[in-house]
Amino acid sequence: MKDLRGLILSGGKGTRLRPITHTSAKQLVPVANKPVLFYGIEAMAAAGIREIGIIIAPETGDEIREVTGDGSRFGVEITYIPQSAPLGLAHAVLTAEPFLNDSPFVMYLGDNLLQGGIEELVAAFRAGTPDALILLTQVEDPENYGVAELNGDGSVTRLVEKPKEPATDLALVGVYMFTAGIHDAARAIEPSRRGELEITDAIQHLVNSGRRVEPHIVRGWWKDTGRLDDMLEANRLILDAIEPQIDGELIDSVVDGRVIVEGGATLIRATVRGPAVIAAGARLTDCYVGPYTAIGVDCELQNAEVEHSILLAGSSVRNLDGRMESSLLGRNVRIRRDHSQPRAFRFMVGDNSEIGIL
Ligand code: TTP
Repeated sequence: MKDLRGLILSGGKGTRLRPITHTSAKQLVPVANKPVLFYGIEAMAAAGIREIGIIIAPETGDEIREVTGDGSRFGVEITYIPQSAPLGLAHAVLTAEPFLNDSPFVMYLGDNLLQGGIEELVAAFRAGTPDALILLTQVEDPENYGVAELNGDGSVTRLVEKPKEPATDLALVGVYMFTAGIHDAARAIEPSRRGELEITDAIQHLVNSGRRVEPHIVRGWWKDTGRLDDMLEANRLILDAIEPQIDGELIDSVVDGRVIVEGGATLIRATVRGPAVIAAGARLTDCYVGPYTAIGVDCELQNAEVEHSILLAGSSVRNLDGRMESSLLGRNVRIRRDHSQPRAFRFMVGDNSEIGIL
């Protein structure tokens, strides 16, 4: 088999993560303080893939290039592939055809996380030489996913996008392996009702033309981080497996369990109960940080309690009487309670923001 290439889809609209995605790419939202996208790149690098194409959108492409670079820090070579508009996953494949040529490739959705990497899958793909290998996982709500139906011999017979009455509970995971035949399949299909060239339709086209599409049931967890709750859960899953390391400065502070405090972070009279990560430059004073929290670079917490949340770089939370939880703060967000009169809530928030007050 020719050398496998990698294709990571990092364009799209990101409507479900607004307002964060008004100003930044959702693939760059950090999970345990590392952009989601980097997990996919690292998984590919670990599987021995050296040449990776990343699909980017006109609005967020420059930021992705800037943050991710040429790939050298991951030991890979990255080629950026602009997609004119988010016209579907199969459209992204066609956009990447000049980069992929006739190479077999692994396609990875840039906002997805897959525990355990892809080494085993790449080995199965190389050994079995199917036309495509798709990853499946059992879910409780298959009606929200692409759902696969299998033959008695275990091969894929049908893929249905968000079926009202799912025939199985096997959802399609956002990591796929293809041979070059997928390009013709993507050319052969029509846009769906939502106007996108669907990868499920292209794979179904392979099945219908007698190509061999093999399923692989994933054993670890898989997360699509497209929505806030999924993002927080991904953060929880990754933090659950971190190795504690304290490089920052602790003054009259207590750190319990799996906690990373990066060098340059300062904790003064703070209690941190892991799993949690506190990034460089963060300053925590008189506060409590509870489990499953990721505090970004240069964040400031003062007289506050934060739990099960993600704070992006430069944000601050001050003088809250209650605990902030299950929250995602974008960059440079400031939340504070003022004890001035008259007592009132005061906000300046972007479009499609969400604020919950008990
Ligand atoms: P989705 O999450 O399905 O789509 P989206 O990014 O438009 O998000 P939303 O539904 O919230 O509006 O896309 C999965 C991944 O694939 C994500 O990383 C974006 C990327 N993508 C592309 O690169 N090109 C595309 O045409 C589409 C549809 C998605």
